[in-house]
Amino acid sequence: MRPFIIAGNWKMNTTLSDAVVLARAIRGGLDDMPTDRVRVIVCPPFVSLSSVHEIIRDSGIALGAQNVHERDRGAYTGEISAAMLGSVGCEYVIIGHSERRKYFGETDVQVNAKVKKALENELRPIVCVGESLDERERGITVDVVSRQVRGAFDGVEAHNFQKCIIAYEPVWAIGTGKTATPQQAQEVHKVIRGLVRDAAGNEIAERFVIQYGGSMKPENAGDLLGQPDVDGGLIGGASLNADSFLAIVQAAESTGRNG
Ligand code: 13P
Repeated sequence: MRPFIIAGNWKMNTTLSDAVVLARAIRGGLDDMPTDRVRVIVCPPFVSLSSVHEIIRDSGIALGAQNVHERDRGAYTGEISAAMLGSVGCEYVIIGHSERRKYFGETDVQVNAKVKKALENELRPIVCVGESLDERERGITVDVVSRQVRGAFDGVEAHNFQKCIIAYEPVWAIGTGKTATPQQAQEVHKVIRGLVRDAAGNEIAERFVIQYGGSMKPENAGDLLGQPDVDGGLIGGASLNADSFLAIVQAAESTGRNG
């Protein structure tokens, strides 16, 4: 069956020294906690990737970045390429986070280009999708998420889906303390798995990891992760504290679902 994958998106938090302290605490906690069913990813800011990589080396914790540029190299001041991320030990990269879509105008076309560039460079994309509050209230959640998923994976070959994760992050639940109910999450996750099935076939769809993100905390993680199509979490606020992040990992480890 599918593993659970719990990823911490540290967003624009932590200086280098904060990041080092946090990474050490997470590593220390996981070294003491057998996690057979859960994989853990940490996504610090760019400037801390290299140092965090040193800390998590050989621990089983994987490193991810929070964004990548869609071109290989060149005169794109301030941007970071997929090859650069690989060179500092990244295995994963978050693409199309709603904060990038909202504050930096990222479009589905750009998200698609970034997904392809990441795959070309042996990085595993964590593609974020999710509706706004207005879109949920207008009853178009499934339309919006379907458009985002189809857009992000347009032209991606079936075998490459195996390297990807989708994170369903309802925008109204991010950083607000409001969480989707387990039923709301399950409903959308099931739709997403159906889209993966259409694009890549049943076998790949059954193994495909779909994370939930949006105010996931130790208190609600067990219920969310107990849903049949919720395969992990992309955690913002609660990933900045080692104890709460580890408690979510523990919740995944001990949930009744999966095999
Ligand atoms: P919060 O857990 O802070 O709501 O953030 C979720 C998120 O955006 C993860 O990418």
